[in-house]
Amino acid sequence: MSSAPTILRIARPDDWHLHLRDGAALAAVLPHTAAQFGRAIIMPNLKPPVTTLELARAYRDRIVQALAAHNAQREQAGRLPLVFEPLMTLYLTDNTSADDILRAHESGLVHAVKLYPAGATTNSDAGVTDLRRPIKALEAMERVGLPLCVHGEVVDPSVDLFDRERVFIDQKLIPLRRSLPGLRIVFEHITTREAAEYVRDAGSDGGDLGATITAHHLLYNRNAIFSGGVRPHYYCLPVLKRETHRLALVEAATSGDPRFFLGTDSAPHAKGLKEHACGCAGCYTALHAMELYATAFENAGKLDRLEGFASHFGADFYRLPRNTQTLTLERRPFAVPAAVAYGETELVPLDAGQTLAWTCVH
Ligand code: DOR
Ligand code: ZN
Repeated sequence: MSSAPTILRIARPDDWHLHLRDGAALAAVLPHTAAQFGRAIIMPNLKPPVTTLELARAYRDRIVQALAAHNAQREQAGRLPLVFEPLMTLYLTDNTSADDILRAHESGLVHAVKLYPAGATTNSDAGVTDLRRPIKALEAMERVGLPLCVHGEVVDPSVDLFDRERVFIDQKLIPLRRSLPGLRIVFEHITTREAAEYVRDAGSDGGDLGATITAHHLLYNRNAIFSGGVRPHYYCLPVLKRETHRLALVEAATSGDPRFFLGTDSAPHAKGLKEHACGCAGCYTALHAMELYATAFENAGKLDRLEGFASHFGADFYRLPRNTQTLTLERRPFAVPAAVAYGETELVPLDAGQTLAWTCVH
């Protein structure tokens, strides 16, 4: 007889890396995240990017308003409101000043600053061209303990796309941690064995170092992008890697090591912009994030490690209290829809048309 659990009740999880976009897109995707997660670190790569406290405050207000509008609809349908707290970030540029950082930190509203190397990914054109440029901002972050969330890929076009994360560790991350030894860093959406091992083995050679891991990088290797033809819904950045890397990520996520925690990098793009001659990077996973993570942890035989990864370690890293509510998952088939509404268009979730073994109970 199988002893596999049929119910999984864990402390309510948080998403430590999320793209919510703005306007109608925000209104479409926010309820998916708020149904599962208590809080999320909100990525600032809007157009234009969220570079100041004022912009972060205004963006936060729009998120809170979108949630209130959704909750009003739920109330009319006799459903309980969703409770969700957006944790804002600033987009680091060459010109971010120490004063920008200190004001953001003192507000209590900004929980991290995001480094996009200029040109590395979606809406990263205003990102950092040289880490020496915003040095005063980075020094201020080191002083006050404000974490730097790092998109860890070099942008040098001569470096193979699949090597850009590994090269970033040697060329950028190690020197950065040496020069600012107290800077707290989250290596975002890691995708390689080298990154997992670097984070695991990073000792007192720098400040606190954590890493987020997405569900898609735990579930898929790069074959998924090319199975029977080009599969744009499996294209994200950093791109999926070989199986040996996926195995290292699964090992890290399910190890119980608190330096590894959940960050979906759920990144919505309209169906037509994914299924395109030059398709956008990003996998949409907010709809069924915990179903996907439960699948990955169960595949590894480590369902008992899901709660630490999803609900404890990120809060501990960000020095926030752990959530006191719970989330329940049930072993019941979850049919991933072919598409969901996205403003006037549609959004295709990861694994559209497939069935997952776990369903969140809302
Ligand atoms: O796949 C990705 N999509 N990676 C990123 O770094 C950005 C994100 C987005 O904003 O679409
Ligand atoms: Zn992202």
